[in-house]
Amino acid sequence: MNGHRPKLIYLLGFMGSGKSSVGVLLAQELGWPFIDLDTVIEASQGTSIREIFEQAGEPFFRQLEQAALAEVSKKEPAVIALGGGSFAQKSNFDFIRGRRGVTIWLDSPIDELWQRCATMANRPLFRDRASFARLYAQRLPYYRQAKYRISTEGRTPQEIVREILGFQLY
Ligand code: S3P
Repeated sequence: MNGHRPKLIYLLGFMGSGKSSVGVLLAQELGWPFIDLDTVIEASQGTSIREIFEQAGEPFFRQLEQAALAEVSKKEPAVIALGGGSFAQKSNFDFIRGRRGVTIWLDSPIDELWQRCATMANRPLFRDRASFARLYAQRLPYYRQAKYRISTEGRTPQEIVREILGFQLY
């Protein structure tokens, strides 16, 4: 146990990778609060992520995301589920690295991501297959720099959490 390291776990990965489902379970197991960054943004604005994108555009959403990230990172211990794009914004990436929290990438094959997102209609950046693949490719170099990587392929959130708990996180 390293007493100087903030007790923060950041779950990251593309949309549909299961950050929120895994995060809730992981937080339960650790007895830590769970924070979903998108939910914090929605609560602060009193509206949905989709509405924010539609009314104010993505750059404004990214500003809100950056501010929310700074805010939630003050509270520890916590398991924080990032949005799919959070860790791929250079400013957030640098900020998280500076916090020295633990970063865990939920790595899912693009077909699995696509299928999961297709069942939920609330993602503004889920459009067509080509743009989905482009965004995924752009973000991989960031995701790959997470401290831990877990393959989610064909696995339940419970199985993924069990693997995370097996890591020497602290
Ligand atoms: C985004 C993913 C979403 C949400 C917003 C932007 C992205 O989160 O933050 O729609 O840039 O990929 P999920 O990964 O939870 O879908």
